[in-house]
Amino acid sequence: MRLYRTADYDDMSRKAANIISAQVIIKPDCVLGLATGSTPLGTYRQLIDWYKKGDLDFSEVKSANLDEYRGLPRDNDQSYYYFMYNNLFKHININLDNTNVPNGMEPDSEKECLRYEKVIADLGGVDLQLLGLGRNGHIGFNEPADSFGTITHCVDLTESTIEANKRFFASADDVPRQAYTMGIQTIMKARKILLAVSGEDKAEALYNTLYGPVTPQVPGSILQLHTDVVVVADEAALSRIPR
Ligand code: GLP
Repeated sequence: MRLYRTADYDDMSRKAANIISAQVIIKPDCVLGLATGSTPLGTYRQLIDWYKKGDLDFSEVKSANLDEYRGLPRDNDQSYYYFMYNNLFKHININLDNTNVPNGMEPDSEKECLRYEKVIADLGGVDLQLLGLGRNGHIGFNEPADSFGTITHCVDLTESTIEANKRFFASADDVPRQAYTMGIQTIMKARKILLAVSGEDKAEALYNTLYGPVTPQVPGSILQLHTDVVVVADEAALSRIPR
């Protein structure tokens, strides 16, 4: 595992974007695993900037997002498809047909989860998976649990996640209670993983993820077992980890 200490959010974003752009330059038809949330926003802004300057070409890139709220249509401004379209896809030359997000509107969760796993397998797997970290150590929407979830599945969101994500909704009552998420096994199959973490409120989760026991109570801790993980975190997120 390689850890990059960055000064602040902007520095973290630039470093994470650097790693993603290296992937795109080295393998123009790569499969990027993408994430939502406030953490990757700066990274996406930086990628858009480099694309506009002519330094990056996404025309052959394919993508698969980590997760989606169950029950939200693509045009709902809180859906993760909407997030991806508005914060990245529409600003770059990625072919929308090559972008994939779980379909939150498919009511048959088993069918949707199997379909999504097949989509990823048909793409040949993920080359670089970008991850944020939940305050409770979740990755994607793999919440603390008694065992590591396996492949793409439907999860009940924990109160702590609903609480953390309610800032994007009118109220906590409006936050969907379930989501479709890549499972831990799906994430661990990515050839390379980039974990981006910013802010004091993630310090404990990041410490437990990197240095705590590998336990499904801290889903991110499984990353200790992956052979190619890069962590890019700012000083605030690293405040519990001495230099
Ligand atoms: C959500 C997403 C995660 C994300 C996490 C952290 O729950 N499902 O993929 O990593 O929130 O979000 P943020 O970056 O806004 O702190």
